Formats: sequence, C-alpha cells, structure tokens
Amino acid sequence: MKKPFTFALLLSAAAIAMPAHAQFAKAEDAVQYRQGAFRVLGYHFGRLGAMANGKLPYNAATAAADGDVIAAVAKLPAAGFVPGSESGHDTRALPALWKEMPKVKELNDKMVAETGKLAVAAKSGNLDQLKAAFGPAAQTCKACHDDFRKK
Ligand code: HEC
Repeated sequence: MKKPFTFALLLSAAAIAMPAHAQFAKAEDAVQYRQGAFRVLGYHFGRLGAMANGKLPYNAATAAADGDVIAAVAKLPAAGFVPGSESGHDTRALPALWKEMPKVKELNDKMVAETGKLAVAAKSGNLDQLKAAFGPAAQTCKACHDDFRKK
C-alpha cells in the first residue's frame, strides 16, 4: 500500500518542480501565455524607455525594479511558441516563425542577453548607463517583430 502513495507524491513533486511554461493543456493557453508575458515585458520595457528618452523623470528605484522584472520575464514568452498555436488563434505571430525556429531562437537569445545587460544598467543607479543599454535592447525586440510579428 505504500507504493501508490509514494508515486503520487513523486508525481506532485514533479509537477511543482517543473517550470510553469513547460507544458500547456491546449494551444490557446500557449497563445495567452506568450501574449501575457510580452505584455508585461512591454509595460516595464516601455517605462525604462521613457526614462531613457527623457519622457519620464528618471527614478532609480523604479528603474531598478523594472530591470528585475524585465530580466525575469524576457526569458518566458518563447516557451509559448509551441507547434499548433500558429493559426486559428487570435495571434499576431506570423506562420513564418514556426518555419524558422533556429533563427527565432537566435533572435530570442539576443533579446535575453541584451535585456539582461539592460537590467544591470537599470540597477546601476546611473541614467547614462540606462540610456546606453536601452537602444541595443530595443533593437532586439524590433529585429524579431520586423520578421515574425504582424504589423
Ligand atoms: C523572438 C521574437 C521576439 C522577440 C525577441 C520579441 N518579441 Fe515581442 N512579440 C513577438 C511575437 C511573435 C508577438 C506576437 C505574439 C502573439 O500575438 O501571439 C509579440 C508580441 C509582443 C507584444 C504584444 C503582446 C500582446 O499580445 O498584447 C509586445 C508588447 C511585445 N511583443 C514586446 C516585446 C518587447 C518589449 C521585446 C524586447 C524586449 C520583444 N517583444 C521581443 C516576437 C518577439
């Protein structure tokens, strides 16, 4: 009688240990997941951009907090590009994305790397460092949107 119990425990432990984005019950969940992650990313990214461009007064604490969110969230949306979620959904992702996965992965890796640098700059307490890191990071967003997102 002990075995099934242990097995059930193991199963639930595995479910907890698994990253939340490792699996989706249905394709629509993956669409919602990536769009939600991009939306959060875009919000915090936009606020840093506004500070970098002088449209919003620089606030070191807000910038540092935005940097933390960006560094964490930038790693998430790509997990939502699962097969089967390219058509039949309310998505702006172009079908080409699923045909050029190696290129998409490269673009995504660049975005993760540059937003990581941006996060460090955002936490430096130095506006000039934030300004210097913002442009290259924004370029990585644009590079993927240009080729793989509907206008
Ligand atoms: C590897 C490709 C790729 C990179 C890199 C990328 N995006 Fe996107 N982004 C997409 C795709 C594809 C969509 C459309 C997703 C959908 O509708 O299913 C999207 C959608 C979005 C949206 C709209 C979300 C919504 O549904 O409301 C925002 C905002 C966004 N991206 C911000 C960013 C920002 C900011 C960066 C850079 C820090 C970035 N993206 C980098 C591919 C990318």
